[in-house]
Amino acid sequence: MKAVGIRTSLPIEEKESFIAFETAKPKPGSRDLLVKIKAVSVNPVDYKVRSSSAKGKELDEPKILGWDASGIVEATGAEVEYFKEGDEVFYAGDITRPGSNAEYQVVDERIVGHKPKKSTFEEAAAMPLTSITAFECIFDRLLIKENGGEDQKILVIGGAGGVGSIGIQLLNELTQLTVIATASRRETENWCLEMGADVVVNHHNLVEELKENGITEVDYILNFSNTELHWEAMATIIKPQGHICSIVETKENVDLNKLKNKSVSFHWELMFTRPMFGTKDLSRQHEILEDLSAMMMDKGSIRSTLKETFHGLKPETFKKVHQIQESGKSIGKNVISF
Ligand SMILES: NC(=O)c1ccc[n+]([C@@H]2O[C@H](COP(=O)([O-])OP(=O)(O)OC[C@H]3O[C@@H](n4cnc5c(N)ncnc54)[C@H](OP(=O)(O)O)[C@@H]3O)[C@@H](O)[C@H]2O)c1
Repeated sequence: MKAVGIRTSLPIEEKESFIAFETAKPKPGSRDLLVKIKAVSVNPVDYKVRSSSAKGKELDEPKILGWDASGIVEATGAEVEYFKEGDEVFYAGDITRPGSNAEYQVVDERIVGHKPKKSTFEEAAAMPLTSITAFECIFDRLLIKENGGEDQKILVIGGAGGVGSIGIQLLNELTQLTVIATASRRETENWCLEMGADVVVNHHNLVEELKENGITEVDYILNFSNTELHWEAMATIIKPQGHICSIVETKENVDLNKLKNKSVSFHWELMFTRPMFGTKDLSRQHEILEDLSAMMMDKGSIRSTLKETFHGLKPETFKKVHQIQESGKSIGKNVISF
């Protein structure tokens, strides 16, 4: 099968930062689906893995990146329960296995959902990784109850990015929280409002910006951008006994003591934890994607965060989309259709 991958970690502008190659079509294990990929999306994890996983070395077999896909089930493992041949699916996948930037991929059915029937493959490919992340943050880490949060506020830092775009929609649809999102440009501010944010403030002067909007404290914070950069502001504006969840590793140490007097809880979220450790509740990710599919399909209450579609399983396309993602200015999701 055809695939696009990396042999060594190179800056994106280098000629060989991505290469096209042929490799064997994978065979599904007992709970796996063999999926013919139709579209993939690019996330910051792709450029983080691209720039670090083969630093200073040459891999014998190129590494296939990409952890967000939609496609059609071509074959199923012996113990597969939820899917059959021909089903249209979407999923993020498992970072410990080869990614989706290829003609075919095998993926454990417990982390796969049925693609929303009304959505195109491109609209569907935009959703899994960011939606699983946002769902897990809101309901599994912050333990916010469905339809809960009346008279409470949540701050979403990085509102117009991939995760923020679906996070705002989910909070709007499934809770009663007042959603305050951050954006620093007119374009991203408008996008956050389109996604359903009640208030948008600029993250460059967060505490003051909130004050100007009459907000001195919030019950919850979702940090979808930069943990250390916003640490002081988060410690200042979180309510006593509030909760903060971050999805971004810190490059520098942060002072956890700043949260002690207020008895604030800090939570990490990594959407790969369940597949990476094969946790007992692995199929929670299947359930999340099935719920999302229903919300996008039957009720139409959640829309795809797809912003732009690019074409072709070829190195040049991945270079272009990685460049956009690395700029830190991406809005919603960028998808590549094959
Ligand atoms: N732990 C996990 O499971 C998990 C899952 C998904 C993503 N992540 C991580 O979460 C981060 C966000 O992912 P994403 O896909 O949403 O990224 P993204 O789509 O690239 O986010 C782009 C947005 O970030 C905003 N932004 C840039 N600098 C900012 C700052 N200093 N403060 C606040 N917002 C800022 C920009 O808005 P403006 O232009 O308005 O400034 C831009 O629209 C990445 O580091 C990613 O690796 C972690």
